[in-house]
Amino acid sequence: MTPSWRPMVAADLETVAAIERESHNPLPPEGLSVFADRLALFPAGCFVAGCRLGRPVGGYALAHPWAGPAPALGSVPLRLPESPDHLLLHDVAILPPLRGQGLAAAVVALLCRVAAAQGLAELRLVSVHATQPMWARLGFVADGPMAAAGYGEGAVPMRLASVATPPRGGGRQPAGR
Ligand SMILES: CC(C)(COP(=O)(O)OP(=O)(O)OC[C@H]1O[C@@H](n2cnc3c(N)ncnc32)[C@H](O)[C@@H]1OP(=O)(O)O)[C@@H](O)C(=O)NCCC(=O)NCCS
Repeated sequence: MTPSWRPMVAADLETVAAIERESHNPLPPEGLSVFADRLALFPAGCFVAGCRLGRPVGGYALAHPWAGPAPALGSVPLRLPESPDHLLLHDVAILPPLRGQGLAAAVVALLCRVAAAQGLAELRLVSVHATQPMWARLGFVADGPMAAAGYGEGAVPMRLASVATPPRGGGRQPAGR
């Protein structure tokens, strides 16, 4: 069955933290408190991926409105800015069995709709683990050489300026909401 995204709920947080521990080596894990903080802060930007509701979760994505450079990894609690100008894809990770099936493209398309609903024209992220070419294929461009604290060497801030035209391929996943 094709995996898809659904809204994250508090009961997913333990699994999300476990997926993070598996996915982000050698970056230190941010941990459950950061994920719980982001879910409370902006639930409309938090999703998990799996094959069917009630079946094991194999991926997650967290995003929230933001302004300025991405906050340092592990920042908690975070406050939403009064005047956000973009949606920040804080983190996305997908376990190997679910990779290569378009889930990253699908969540970008999903988050473009979330951004547009918030009146935000841009989606931004900090590319780590040499994922810059993948994000570039989805339409993101590098946005200056400086990354926020904690993202490690080689991290690249990137932005997708036109959330009105999400990447091709994103349409092959059903929307989570
Ligand atoms: C990055 C990640 C989320 C991509 O997930 P995915 O489900 O494979 O994404 P998609 O299926 O939408 O595939 C996107 C494409 O990028 C490719 N790709 C994946 N990771 C890549 C990488 N590090 N560098 C270059 N290309 C990559 C995939 O092979 C795929 O190519 P294809 O379309 O030719 O098959 C997943 O590999 C992952 O969780 N990695 C560990 C955590 C991580 O790096 N998160 C990103 C933080 S910015």
